[in-house]
Amino acid sequence: MVRKLLAIVTITAAAGSLSTGTASAQDAAKGEAVFKQCMTCHRADKNMVGPALGGVVGRKAGTAAGFTYSPLNHNSGEAGLVWTQENIIAYLPDPNAYLKKFLTDKGQADKATGSTKMTFKLANDQQRKDVAAYLATLK
Ligand code: HEC
Repeated sequence: MVRKLLAIVTITAAAGSLSTGTASAQDAAKGEAVFKQCMTCHRADKNMVGPALGGVVGRKAGTAAGFTYSPLNHNSGEAGLVWTQENIIAYLPDPNAYLKKFLTDKGQADKATGSTKMTFKLANDQQRKDVAAYLATLK
């Protein structure tokens, strides 16, 4: 039963990325195309509606120079959130829930107030992996 389910999942994933052949590898070139959705609000080198994302991988959350963050995003950085490809992948499906859980897990539920200004959600697993790989190339 589990095997059968796995087979279905594998086939579904493969169908989504026929042109690459590998469903799970991260592809920064494809991530650049995914990033076009982010560019409504983000650029690598300047703050717009959202903070500049150049160098975001490895950066403490809530610290793009000159950007005014929500308390929720800011507090997450203060509580120790540093962006990695892995946690960006986990954050994108529901940024608000991710940050609230991060603070709650750190014992700072009292600081998990309000909402993040990052209202965009990206559910697709492959797109999240690809865009995280692309973000890591942005300086
Ligand atoms: C509708 C506008 C909008 C879109 C589209 C958007 N974002 Fe954001 N993003 C924001 C805003 C605004 C913030 C600041 C959040 C806050 O202060 O709570 C943010 C914050 C972030 C952060 C945290 C940055 C930090 O310095 O802590 C990351 C990472 C991020 N966005 C990635 C992405 C990615 C990747 C995409 C595309 C898949 C994307 N965003 C699409 C508006 C957007």
